Formats: sequence, C-alpha cells, structure tokens
Amino acid sequence: MSTVIDLQNVSVVRNGRAILDSVSFQADSSQRWVILGPNGAGKTTMLRVCAAQIQPSSGSADVLGQRLGEVNIFELRTRIGFASSALANQIPNSETVLNAVMTASYGVTGRWKEEYDSVDERRAMRVLGEWDLSDFAERPFGTLSDGERKRVQIARSIMTDPELLLLDEPVASLDPGAREQTISLLSGYATSSYAPAMAMVTHHLEEIPAGFTHALLVQDGKILARGEIGSTITSESISETFRYPLKVSYEAGRFSVRAA
Ligand SMILES: Nc1ncnc2c1ncn2[C@@H]1O[C@H](COP(=O)(O)OP(=O)(O)OP(=O)(O)O)[C@@H](O)[C@H]1O
Ligand SMILES: [Mg+2]
Repeated sequence: MSTVIDLQNVSVVRNGRAILDSVSFQADSSQRWVILGPNGAGKTTMLRVCAAQIQPSSGSADVLGQRLGEVNIFELRTRIGFASSALANQIPNSETVLNAVMTASYGVTGRWKEEYDSVDERRAMRVLGEWDLSDFAERPFGTLSDGERKRVQIARSIMTDPELLLLDEPVASLDPGAREQTISLLSGYATSSYAPAMAMVTHHLEEIPAGFTHALLVQDGKILARGEIGSTITSESISETFRYPLKVSYEAGRFSVRAA
C-alpha cells in the first residue's frame, strides 16, 4: 500500500476566485474513490490536478510520489490514466480510434512523429477488444457517437497500464445497456487487486461501480465529507451536498437516490 495522491492545502485560483479552496486529500493505492458534488463544485478541477494536467496556484500536490512543478509532467502523465470529455475534445477528428488510444503511451492526443512499436499496437488492440471497440480501430474518431467516444476515452486511459486511473463522468451519455456494461467492467477493475488506484467523478449515485471503497463529497471548492463509502454516502450528507432533501438507498453494492 502506498500513497498515490497527496494534496496539501491545494488551491486553484481563476479570475480571482478559488475554484478549489485549500483542499487537502490523500489516497492510497488500494483505494477506489468516487468524487461527488454539484455542478461547478470543483470536481473536474481537482481531478485535473491529480492527473498532472494543471498545477495548484498554491499548496503542494504529490502524485505517484512526484511533486507537481518539480518533475517532468509528460513522463508523469504516462503513469496516470485520465478519461475526460475535455481531453477527448483534443483528439483530432481525423485520428483513427487505434491512434487515439495508442497516443496515450506518449501522453499526447494527436499522432505526429512518435515512433510506436508493435508492442504498443498489440496492447492498443487488446484494450480496444476489452472495451468492445475492435471494429472501430480504423474509424476516424470524429465519426463516433457520444457513447462510442466515451468508451474510447476509457480505453485510452488504461492503455498505459497506469498506476492511477482517473475518470471524469465516464458513463455520462451512455445508453442504459452500455452504461451497465461499462459500470460492470469498472467494477471488475475496482475489485481486482492488480488494478490501479482509482478516482471517479460523477453526479449520479447509480453510476458508482460496486467495489468502490471511499467517497469524497465536494461543494464550492471545498471538501464536505470523506471516508469509507458506506458511512460517507448517507441521505443526510447527500442532501447537504446537493442542497436538496434526498433519500439514498443501497442494494447489492449499488446506490440509488430519489427525493426524500
Ligand atoms: N479556467 C477557468 N476560468 C474561470 N473559471 C473556471 C475555469 N475553470 C473552471 N472554472 C470554474 O470553476 C468552477 C469549478 O469547475 P469544475 O469544472 O471543476 O466543476 P465540476 O465540479 O467539475 O462541475 P460539473 O459537475 O458541472 O462538471 C466552475 O464554477 C467553473 O466555471
Ligand atoms: Mg466536471
């Protein structure tokens, strides 16, 4: 067990406002975190710090034992799997799905002059197979549906066999079948002792894969609650987080929520 994320008093300031406000947070390699909070709470911002995509305005962020601002972030990024719509938007529409996944080996989104070896290509094909995307390998990324793009994002995020896997709303815009299939695959990762540490952002309690161990509740750039998932996600804490009276249910490893 080792510490994979260690944020100490991290603030991210934009336009004079702390969109992440002195957040301290630690995660270790055996934990799988879900990050919940309303629109604009700072979830994506926090995940982007953990993914070494942005640096704190103040405070310190250590990811996989490396201090952001003091290390080569391109090298560090290849050890982190990160799936987000914003990152997917950087993938050129003309790029093939195979390249969209394979370029993760170099922490870049467009194929340019990198030399890939056949090991990279075999691994990319294996990952595409695992995510039911083999038939899409030669399709331009720009021609995919939203749901297909989502699955490519996740495939890309695990391409490098990362030590830390960060997923920003990985099943948003998937149809119910594709959503459950994806949640079930993520649940398989969550419960495997070989899988990397994971943190997943979502708004929907129904999307939390069984096997996730911890929850972090975020509001207005601050942490409201954190801890072991069963004791952190309660009707009270979720009502406070989303500022609405909500009732949480739990059955067979999965959460659901409705108005209280
Ligand atoms: N570059 C920026 N400049 C100004 N404000 C920003 C910038 N990036 C993010 N913000 C603001 O910071 C706040 C937090 O944004 P963030 O994307 O982290 O929220 P979120 O919790 O992921 O929300 P959502 O659930 O809607 O995705 C938002 O109010 C957003 O408008
Ligand atoms: Mg977000």
